[in-house]
Amino acid sequence: MAINAPKGTRDLLPDQALFWNQFRQTATDVFGVYGYLPIETPLIEQTELFVRGIGEATDVVSKEMFTAISGENLRRWVEEGEAPDAKSRLSLRPEGTAGTVRAVVQHDLVPQGAAPAKLMYAGPMFRAERPQKGRYRQFTQIGVECLGAEEPTIDAEAIIMLMRFYEKVGIPRDAIRLLLNSMGCEQCRPAYRDRVKAYMDERAGELCGTCMARAEVNPLRAFDCKNQACAAVMAGAPKISDHLCDDCREHYEAVKALLDGAGVVYEEDYKLVRGLDYYTRTVFEVQVDDGMGAQNAIGGGGRYDKLAEEVGGRPTPGLGFALGFERCVLALEAAGHEFPRAQRCDLFVACVDDLVRARAFALVQECRDAGFICEMDHQKRSLKSQFKLADKLGAARVAVLGPDELAEGVATLRDMGTHTEAKVRLDEVVGELGRAIL
Ligand code: HAM
Repeated sequence: MAINAPKGTRDLLPDQALFWNQFRQTATDVFGVYGYLPIETPLIEQTELFVRGIGEATDVVSKEMFTAISGENLRRWVEEGEAPDAKSRLSLRPEGTAGTVRAVVQHDLVPQGAAPAKLMYAGPMFRAERPQKGRYRQFTQIGVECLGAEEPTIDAEAIIMLMRFYEKVGIPRDAIRLLLNSMGCEQCRPAYRDRVKAYMDERAGELCGTCMARAEVNPLRAFDCKNQACAAVMAGAPKISDHLCDDCREHYEAVKALLDGAGVVYEEDYKLVRGLDYYTRTVFEVQVDDGMGAQNAIGGGGRYDKLAEEVGGRPTPGLGFALGFERCVLALEAAGHEFPRAQRCDLFVACVDDLVRARAFALVQECRDAGFICEMDHQKRSLKSQFKLADKLGAARVAVLGPDELAEGVATLRDMGTHTEAKVRLDEVVGELGRAIL
């Protein structure tokens, strides 16, 4: 039986892979203007990093991580019952923030008093979720992290930059909803969390079992419950915006004022709690309703002022976001976006017979060396089939080379758009292509 790609993973075929390259390049260009520089971190990290960084009780860590065990450790575990020690337990990264912050701490990228480190990454993330439309086990994120500044300008510029990116890549602004909330900080959140828990305890009979179990560990997660009865109950729960401490309220108001000033439209959403435990203060998510199904978040992020300490570094405030490539593609499809064709061909060199093949081969090389995308037949097709192939490749021009042309030192150059033909000296084909294409 043929072997297929694992459940929840996808191949990016040439058209899609080409689009991914362009998409990533657009992000590099847009985020580069804001000072973000690339960073590459390993796809595997010590499991402990995610447990401490993202939070042991989160779905991502408790249920969705792919944990990798090297061959020898696996053998010892299976055959001798000796579980690998903490350092040998590795997990495929479910997201990019924890690894980036680990790298910042490890390489001291934000020494005391330094300007913030602005970093961006693009690549695969892995979560063992139940696959469905827009939800994969291997998916592709582009993310940014800014470490070393807690000012609200950082939050606002990151959100503005994210919206610029969606616009640049072609997701219409009116298809997007930007949701905003503040999660408070270690000063105000514990008391707020207790209030929510007390409220949930009072309404215990109306909430689902998962919410009640959540009430023990992280009651705020109940705001995320998809169950309609729970949503109705949680709509009456205390709102974080009424319980922020003065510093958090001031920070949140400043972020909103900066967004207002930049003309960025957002909706405040008290239910937005995000699924990762490291967030403090600002959180945001971008959702698209059309064509997305249940998985409608195309990006999200927020501030995480305690994460660096959580992974062993000195206090270093941080903020970032990640956007999902696959979900952006769904949003673009729903918006009727025209995706580029992978194949472009400036010139196809067609051979009338086999005797001219060597000269045709040399001509193809000359054109390629000059930077033109050039192709010829390699399977001894008839002239008619060569024209068909040229058509299939979308060739803009076809140079026909036969014994007569060779004797004269010319090729017949056909413009496939206008169907006009002209004889061109072989040593002038490159120049002619340059004039025609540029
Ligand atoms: P997240 O909300 O878990 O945040 O993921 C960010 C985006 O990745 C989502 O909005 C979605 O577009 C995409 N995504 C997540 N899971 C899947 C999946 N299973 N299949 C397809 N796409 C998916 C984070 O990962 C945080 N690290 C963001 C961040 C950066 N916060 C601060 N800095």
